[in-house]
Amino acid sequence: MAQKILLTGGAGFIGSHTYVALKNAGFDAVILDNFSNARRDVTDRLEVITGTPVTCIEGDVLSESLLDRIFADHDIAAVIHFAAQKAVGESVEKPLEYLNTNIAGLYALLRSMRRAEVFRLVFSSSATVYGQPDHLPVNETAGRSFNNPYGFTKLVCEQSLEQIAASDDRWAFGVLRYFNPVGAHETGLIGEDPNDIPNNLVPYIAKVATGELARLSVWGNDYDTPDGTGIRDYIHVMDLAKGHVQSLDALLTSGAGHVVNLGTGTGYSVLEVLQAYERACGHTLPYRIAPRRAGDVACVYGDTRLAKQILGFKAELGLDEMCASSWNWVARRKNT
Ligand code: UD1
Repeated sequence: MAQKILLTGGAGFIGSHTYVALKNAGFDAVILDNFSNARRDVTDRLEVITGTPVTCIEGDVLSESLLDRIFADHDIAAVIHFAAQKAVGESVEKPLEYLNTNIAGLYALLRSMRRAEVFRLVFSSSATVYGQPDHLPVNETAGRSFNNPYGFTKLVCEQSLEQIAASDDRWAFGVLRYFNPVGAHETGLIGEDPNDIPNNLVPYIAKVATGELARLSVWGNDYDTPDGTGIRDYIHVMDLAKGHVQSLDALLTSGAGHVVNLGTGTGYSVLEVLQAYERACGHTLPYRIAPRRAGDVACVYGDTRLAKQILGFKAELGLDEMCASSWNWVARRKNT
C-alpha cells in the first residue's frame, strides 16, 4: 500500500507542485492548509493533474488538536512541512506573527508528531540562512546568519531540529535549503500566485508580461557582478519538488537525516532573467534601474554536490524552461 505523507502548506506554491511529484512517485498525500497564501481552487486543479481525489484539510498548523486528529485519522509515514510565512519585508513589520507561525508552528507539529510516533520530517529551509556567503558556490558547511525576522525563523528552526535530532535518535530530519524557486507545472494549472504585488523577481516580471504592472524596477545595477545586477540561483519548482521526494525516500529508507542545498548551482543576474522571460513571452518588457533594495546581497548560488551525493538530486530544467512554464501558467490564469 502507498505510504501516506502529510503536507502542511500543501496548497501553496511549492507544496502543490510537491504534491504532484509525490503522487507521480507512488505516494499518497494529505494536505493541511489554512489558505492564507493559496487559492481554494488549487485542490480542484490538483485533481485534474493527478486524476485522483485530493484529501485537503483546512486548518492551521498551530492547532495541535487538529494535528492530533489528522494523525489519528490517517496512517502518516512522514511529514513535509511547508506551512510558513515567507515575505521578508512583512516579517520586519510583523515579527511576532512570523515567529509564531514559523517557529511555534514547527514546535506544535513536532509535539503532535511525537505523540503519533511519526519521526520523519522534511523541512523547508532557505538559502537565506547563508546571508552573503564568503565563498561561492556556497556549501552546507558555510556559516549561518540572519538579516531579518524571516531569516531568523529559518535559522532557529534549523537549530531546533539539530537539538531535537541529537537528543532522540528516533527522529530523522531532511532540511532542504531552497535557493530561488520559480516556474510552474507543465500543464499551466498550478503555479505561483501571490495575493498582493509580488516581492520576488519572477512573479513580478510575470505581471509586467501580462500588463498588470507597468514595469520592473531592477533593484540596483552597481553590484560587483558582470552586469551590475544581483545574481541568484533560480531553480525550477518541479526540480525542487523532485528534491522533496528524494529527501523523503532517503528518510524512509535509510532513516538518515540530512541538510542539503537545493539549487541548480548556476547564478543568473536580474537582467538575464528578464531577457529569458522576454524570450518566453515573445515581447520586450519595460524596466527601470532603481536603488538597491535594503537587505539584498549581490550574489548567491549553491554548491549542489552534497544533494547529488546523498539524495541523487540533480536539477534538470534551465532558466528558459523556468520562464516558459511561468508564462504558460500566468497567461492561462489571466484568460480563465
Ligand atoms: C527573497 C528573500 C529571501 C527569501 C526568498 C523567498 C530578500 C532580501 N530575500 O530572496 O530571504 O528566502 O525571497 O522566496 O527579500 N529584484 C529586482 N526587482 C524586483 C524583485 C527582485 O530587481 O522587483 C532582484 C533582487 O534585488 C534580487 C533578485 O531580483 O537581486 C531576486 O530577488 P527575489 O526574487 O526577491 O529573491 P531573493 O532576494 O533572492
